[in-house]
Amino acid sequence: MAQTWTPNSWRQKPIQQVPDYPDLAVLDSVEARLAKYPPLVFAGEARRLRSALANVAEGRGFLLQGGDCAESFAEHGADTIRDFFRAFLQMAVVLTFGAQQPVVKVGRIAGQFAKPRSSGVEKQGDMTLPSYRGDIINGIEFTEEARVPNPERQVMAYRQSAATLNLLRAFAMGGYANLENVHQWMLGFVKDSPQAERYRKLADRISETMDFMKAIGITAENHPSLRETDFFTSHEALLLGYEQALTRVDSTSGDWYATSGHMIWIGDRTRQPDHAHIEYCRGIKNPLGLKCGPSLTADGLLELIDILNPANEAGRLTLICRFGHDKVAEHLPRLIRAVEREGKKVVWSCDPMHGNTITLNNYKTRPFERILSEVESFFQIHRAEGSHPGGIHIEMTGNDVTECTGGARALSGDDLADRYHTHCDPRLNADQALELAFLLAERMKGGRDEKKMVVNG
Ligand code: PEP
Ligand code: CO
Repeated sequence: MAQTWTPNSWRQKPIQQVPDYPDLAVLDSVEARLAKYPPLVFAGEARRLRSALANVAEGRGFLLQGGDCAESFAEHGADTIRDFFRAFLQMAVVLTFGAQQPVVKVGRIAGQFAKPRSSGVEKQGDMTLPSYRGDIINGIEFTEEARVPNPERQVMAYRQSAATLNLLRAFAMGGYANLENVHQWMLGFVKDSPQAERYRKLADRISETMDFMKAIGITAENHPSLRETDFFTSHEALLLGYEQALTRVDSTSGDWYATSGHMIWIGDRTRQPDHAHIEYCRGIKNPLGLKCGPSLTADGLLELIDILNPANEAGRLTLICRFGHDKVAEHLPRLIRAVEREGKKVVWSCDPMHGNTITLNNYKTRPFERILSEVESFFQIHRAEGSHPGGIHIEMTGNDVTECTGGARALSGDDLADRYHTHCDPRLNADQALELAFLLAERMKGGRDEKKMVVNG
């Protein structure tokens, strides 16, 4: 492994989940074009995220990571982005209040296009076609033509990512995220939801605090942290040709960075230590996520940590645990103990989505109570082990979709057909996402009170 790394050294390794492009010359020419396009994010931003995550790894912060399972070309538009950002800000504010700690905000957005699949083919009736692999690779329509991987889609994904990021930067820095707007983030369908009253009360308290601060001279005009927020992007680094084309040397440090997003993660299906995805990721300096599922052994995890973070830098590596509500108690403690024993610095994050997918009425769905249950267990286990439950990783949208069952509106299996829009996995709607944030905030408050008791008692 200590061999020389280059942005294309992954090409010498075995690889999983590669699309079958019919014309490799076209693929090469698209990658060559992308390699000349401007970077989407900058090394300095990725470093800022790494230092924010270092604080989380040390127990002083919480990571909120979320967004679509798969972004789509069809749903690209200002309203979708704004609604997502608004729901995300609401969650962040609830969590900040609960944790009384900084919340590091990372979207699964502006690049989250490529999807790993459990099966290379999809069957409908007596027709079998190649699986849909995300809009950056092929089309979701169940036709032979749509399912052929088309390299030009990478250019479309790049352009959509750039436009999305442009709007997100404007929202984060241009006034929308100003804490004085905390009540306005409530507009949209969530304002009639069961969570509305809870949110309104919290927003009232924040407004009151802002009024007090204004009275003593601290305002959004003279304190940028009240009117701006740091928002980062992330996606799974699955399509390595695309990632390589956007891998650039940072002129200030001489280091290589993925410039397709601030943070990238390695999926549960592509984390073989001697394979291509790990090889690519080890050489770039961005903060990395590693999905940890039930098949990961403690030794396997330690081996991956040594490859991905040999200098044991805090903030470099986030372990995104996705076991399932009924498996988390079996798998998480052994991983925590191994990591703690070896003194490895990581952020522990909980993905309560990917281990809790079931099929109901022919829809892939996730029962909200199982999602809550995995999150609850994650917190309890970390408290018992003395480690920091540092974050949450969810699939969510700002829209009023019906993809996950349960929640305060008690969506049932029969409701799924109403507004089932996801291109891949079922997402929490804005209402369910906010409900989850309130529950998390309570847990974090519980943790704080416990710590105080230890200190005082
Ligand atoms: C995902 O995050 O959408 C995903 C495919 O996750 P995992 O690799 O954990 O299955
Ligand atoms: Co998913």
